[in-house]
Amino acid sequence: MAGNVNLHAANKNKKDEFYTQLVDIENELRHYKAHFKGKTVLCNCDDPRVSNFFHYFSYNFEQLGLKKLITTCYKSQNRDLFSQNDSERAIWLEYFGDRNGNRVPDPEEIGIHYFEGDGDFRSKECVELLKEADIVVTNPPFSLFREYVAQLMKYEKKFVIIGNQNAITNKDFFPLIRDNKVWLGYGFKGGAAHFISKYEDTATAGDHREGMIRVSGVNWFTNLEIPKRHEDMILYKMYNEEEYPKYDNYDAINIDKTADIPIDYDGFMGVPITFMDKYSPDQFEILGICAGNSRLNKFYGIVPYSPHVEDRGGCAVLNNKRVYSRILIRRRKRIGDVVGANHYSPLQVGQPTSYKLPEIPLPMAAEDPESYNPVNKED
Ligand SMILES: C[S@@+](CC[C@H](N)C(=O)[O-])C[C@H]1O[C@@H](n2cnc3c(N)ncnc32)[C@H](O)[C@@H]1O
Repeated sequence: MAGNVNLHAANKNKKDEFYTQLVDIENELRHYKAHFKGKTVLCNCDDPRVSNFFHYFSYNFEQLGLKKLITTCYKSQNRDLFSQNDSERAIWLEYFGDRNGNRVPDPEEIGIHYFEGDGDFRSKECVELLKEADIVVTNPPFSLFREYVAQLMKYEKKFVIIGNQNAITNKDFFPLIRDNKVWLGYGFKGGAAHFISKYEDTATAGDHREGMIRVSGVNWFTNLEIPKRHEDMILYKMYNEEEYPKYDNYDAINIDKTADIPIDYDGFMGVPITFMDKYSPDQFEILGICAGNSRLNKFYGIVPYSPHVEDRGGCAVLNNKRVYSRILIRRRKRIGDVVGANHYSPLQVGQPTSYKLPEIPLPMAAEDPESYNPVNKED
């Protein structure tokens, strides 16, 4: 909670000066190594002299087999993390890898260039560098996240970036998530991270780290394929009417914890935003979202919806009480599905079928357990 207060303030006051730790970059990017071979990587919100993104890619240049690394610095040229961008000239660096064989990026191996402007990622100069890049990797300013992502999508770039999970409910960002154009990466432990910053940290004493702020609800967002994205969630619970009531305003059942998604429900389900961290498009289909802007944007998709006085633009309402944002999902029916006894028909939305184990005929008599032994039979 404390972290959220910080993040909210960061957005509101445009306090974007907090920096990613090398260990967090390493933890995420180790899952993407194969993607980087022969590629030009751009870190476009990164003062190369202090950015751990530059550090990571320059030191791992050969190991990743990169073609080129470009990093750009927004305004500030002071060798100080907290310089507040007070210089009017910005620089960008390019690195083509180790030339003298010492496996270290030496100053003479790094090309330094001056921008005409301030190095804003939206400027013409920066867009030219963006066009050259294959993959963009950074922690962009949270206050400009929407614009940042829109630009990446416009130029059809691959990316791995850090953002707040609340972005998922945003009207511009949600369609990207729904349409499987962007998904969550491996993320930070417990959905929170410590960033290097001078901002006041309101984390509890046990979670406080000197010179850092703890930010909750952060994640990595990407459009690069990762195995995690195709791992099914293992589910255990069975649907029953008492435990899974339907919303007052949506033809969907309410689920408070992602792990409680019933294994046997074929209709629409409203799950918390944290579901996205476990989402596999092979297992579930995202249809919409119940949030404050759903009605206006028709984000509830094909899920039957009727406005409710309490829903404030489309939030799900349960027994006349608004619930937190919910993603609307439906499980995908697949060949070999164990719960194949259930019917799946888009015309029968919201109609649960009772769970029934398929009847498997046992080829052995109960009183003679030795009589059926497939190994012996083969012999
Ligand atoms: C959250 S910090 C992260 C910095 C760095 N990527 C890292 O993770 O260590 C965002 C950075 O974006 C820079 N920034 C703010 N507005 C920008 C803009 N319009 N264009 C480019 N960079 C910007 C800030 O100065 C800040 O250094």
